[in-house]
Amino acid sequence: MTRPLTVLGIESSCDDTAAAVLRGSDILSSVVYGQTDLHAAFGGVVPEVAARAHAEKLDHCIEQAMDEADVGFDDLDGIAVTAGPGLIGGVLSGVMCAKGLAAATGLPLIGVNHLAGHALTPRLTDDVPYPYLMLLVSGGHCQFLIVEAHDRYRRIGGTIDDAPGEAFDKTARLLGLPQPGGPSVERAARDGDASRFDLPRPLLGQPGCDMSFSGLKTALLRARDGVVAQKGGLTTQDQADLAAGFQEAVVDILTRKSRRALEVYAQASPDTPTFAIAGGVAANGPIRSALQTLCDETGTAFMSPPMALCTDNAAMIAYAGMERLRHGQIDDLTLSARPRWPLDDRAAPMLGSGKKGAKA
Ligand code: KG4
Ligand code: ZN
Repeated sequence: MTRPLTVLGIESSCDDTAAAVLRGSDILSSVVYGQTDLHAAFGGVVPEVAARAHAEKLDHCIEQAMDEADVGFDDLDGIAVTAGPGLIGGVLSGVMCAKGLAAATGLPLIGVNHLAGHALTPRLTDDVPYPYLMLLVSGGHCQFLIVEAHDRYRRIGGTIDDAPGEAFDKTARLLGLPQPGGPSVERAARDGDASRFDLPRPLLGQPGCDMSFSGLKTALLRARDGVVAQKGGLTTQDQADLAAGFQEAVVDILTRKSRRALEVYAQASPDTPTFAIAGGVAANGPIRSALQTLCDETGTAFMSPPMALCTDNAAMIAYAGMERLRHGQIDDLTLSARPRWPLDDRAAPMLGSGKKGAKA
């Protein structure tokens, strides 16, 4: 029997500094230092603040991950690091740190695409067979991927503007609810009447799996301003109704586009059709249950990794790196940091840049 590989993973592409040690599919440690407090006053991630915090925290974070895993550098087979896409200062901090460690230890260096980390997580947690359909939905990403192999992805659609997490965060700000917006909008929506405001579902009439959320955001702003102009402010019930209307529109867009994505995926004739969801927005109850129902209707297995592995973490980077290492796909010290790095080179490039960095 071959010995399982042991890989250190490093992640610093957005606002989480993370390090993890993986042995085979066992997560020996996974440490995440979040930066939410550092950026809270600015209403979004400030790239320079993030980069500085990553540079300060990476050493401690890696040390803690190695300690918790009870391994030394001699026990490792490789060092995997997110080399993009993301906020360039943060990605650079991680890549420079990993290069330093690789140069000092002689260990193989593996540059990993952050999106591949998310997309391969269902393999790490549940050994899901290829090809599977993935909806990656977070504050910075929103795309449908058919995952065919650890290094082969088909991007069949995605947002043409904002990511849904961004829209949840903006909605919370407009309604005077706390950040991060997703959980607070979800909570407020529980007591709301989603039918009170007529909010749009952009692109639903168009063919294909692309989505748009910025028009929804603007419509919500107008609806809120209408109420404020009438009453001089928002009552708790107004907040709840606006939150519910917004959330229902997002659920509708994601579900109806997921149905189309499942049709495209079915053409690949998978033996065990599986639809996986990951990213912070995957925590949303109504979104999960709508997608679960869709999968039940279409005979597709629905899966979502545990939340700690859905959001940014380094265990997923270690896993994606381990897959590359097993296939001899290693880098050298010329590895560069890439702000943009689409998983599927054949797909049309995406426009725009989210508050959490360039969209891939
Ligand atoms: O994956 P993540 O932790 O970070 C990146 O964006 O990379 O996702 C964070 C996003 C935030 O925009 C947050 O508002 C959203 O996920 N989120 C949610 C929920 N929990 C977190 N959105 C909707 N419903 C939730 N329960
Ligand atoms: Zn991410």
